[in-house]
Amino acid sequence: MQFLSLFVHQIINPLNGVIGTIDNLIDGTTPPKKRGAKLAEVRAQLEHAIDLIRNLAYLSSVTDVEKNSAIVGRPQPCVIPELIIQAAQYYQSAGLKRGMRIELSDPKTQYVVDGYPALLRQVFMNLFENSLKYSDEGSVVTITPNVQQKTGHLIIEVESFGVGFTFSERERIFELRYRGQEARNAVAAGAGLGLYIARQVMNAHNGIVEAEYSSKTRRTLFRLRFPNFRIAERL
Ligand SMILES: Nc1ncnc2c1ncn2[C@@H]1O[C@H](COP(=O)(O)OP(=O)(O)OP(=O)(O)O)[C@@H](O)[C@H]1O
Ligand SMILES: [Mg+2]
Repeated sequence: MQFLSLFVHQIINPLNGVIGTIDNLIDGTTPPKKRGAKLAEVRAQLEHAIDLIRNLAYLSSVTDVEKNSAIVGRPQPCVIPELIIQAAQYYQSAGLKRGMRIELSDPKTQYVVDGYPALLRQVFMNLFENSLKYSDEGSVVTITPNVQQKTGHLIIEVESFGVGFTFSERERIFELRYRGQEARNAVAAGAGLGLYIARQVMNAHNGIVEAEYSSKTRRTLFRLRFPNFRIAERL
């Protein structure tokens, strides 16, 4: 039962993204010149959805990689900026409605992590979904990948501004079904699944996800840490 609600949470996002893109094609928001490219994007997004259904089986028992490898295959190179851009595309039309956009500070450096692209894409999607939900209208969500000098780890920061959470909640928000007090007051909809899933997926990639919020600046920061990564030549 729990797996079913996690599954539904994850599959609804990409499908809503596809609807948004199709709506833009129907109502003419997409200029005729870009129609072909947009249709190709929709097709790719539906492929992601199928990919995701396959990969979600992996989430049902993240620790049992051997058992699930028959379904999802072996880990493969995940090109991080590519996954970030794909994830952001799903939220383009939803973001526009709130005057918001998602910006990747460095789309060029090809950070690569071995793992499951469909699942890592979902981590970014869940973070973006939250950013659009809990941030101020007209604000910008900034993603900054960087190699931390001290540790040599790949750190990806997702920064947004708006509604937040207390210091004591910053760990609890990753628990299954926990929703922050302020978030509940601001946005009724939500089941407290997104960050739980993000943490499960990060754990499965030997990664860490943490959050912080400053009520003074209204700044929310999610930090993804990957100890194991490499930088590829441009593909
Ligand atoms: N970008 C953000 N800014 C402020 N608070 C956030 C942000 N992302 C998450 N949170 C806090 O973390 C809580 C848990 O997030 P999570 O994504 O797991 O659940 P949700 O968004 O409430 O519901 P669901 O994802 O199931 O629709 C949120 O309720 C909110 O309190
Ligand atoms: Mg959420």
